[in-house]
Amino acid sequence: MERIRIDKMLSQAMMLSRTDAKKILREGSVSVNGNICKNGDMKVDPNADVVCVNGKQLIYDKYIYIMLHKPSGIVSASRDSKEKTVVDLVPSEIRRKGLFPAGRLDRDTTGFVLLTDDGDFAHRILAPGKHVPKTYHVTLTRAVTATEADELADGPTLDEEKLLPVSTQLLNDDTHLYSVILMEGRYHQIKRMFAKQGNPVLALHRVKMGNLELDPALQPGECRLLTPQEVKMIEQRNCLFDE
Ligand code: URA
Repeated sequence: MERIRIDKMLSQAMMLSRTDAKKILREGSVSVNGNICKNGDMKVDPNADVVCVNGKQLIYDKYIYIMLHKPSGIVSASRDSKEKTVVDLVPSEIRRKGLFPAGRLDRDTTGFVLLTDDGDFAHRILAPGKHVPKTYHVTLTRAVTATEADELADGPTLDEEKLLPVSTQLLNDDTHLYSVILMEGRYHQIKRMFAKQGNPVLALHRVKMGNLELDPALQPGECRLLTPQEVKMIEQRNCLFDE
């Protein structure tokens, strides 16, 4: 593992702001290999160095999982030569090498993006056979007819391929706002599905992955680390399409 600044390691492992991490360092609460360390600039190897806070060894997780409230106009990529990406929105105190978005949202789609450096986890939640539901709030041009809803519930056809069932639930009649649950994420699936029914999508916002909802405290552009329990909730699938 690469060597990282001790204040960064403390803030990641203890979910502290960089300022609070520096504070506990200044207070003399942190030791590295038995020696008190007050300097936040010091670089440590999380695998090899023993870092203790008040005598208790710090556990530094191998991987991190971040919930981001993606604003419109941001690209779902790790890096882009011209445009700002979802990874660019992660504050430096929690950013790590190797972070990438586990699943892409279109540039104009807002809401829950999961960022991680755990490739296996990303595969588990994205692989078509895993059926982790993703829930969206979709504003449509007009109301969905009963026939159209049935067509989606039966499994829409895109590019001559029949896809997994899609649930639609009306949330607001006046604004044609629907909750839509996908069990797979094909390219521009929601926009293409409704465009095919002659009902263009006006706005798209992801609210939930698996059983984990976007934290309402996160403003667009803000993110936070997930707890291990929250990470598990992403893989849970007890929605109406459970087998
Ligand atoms: N479906 C779309 O069409 N766009 C998204 O960003 C996500 C799902």
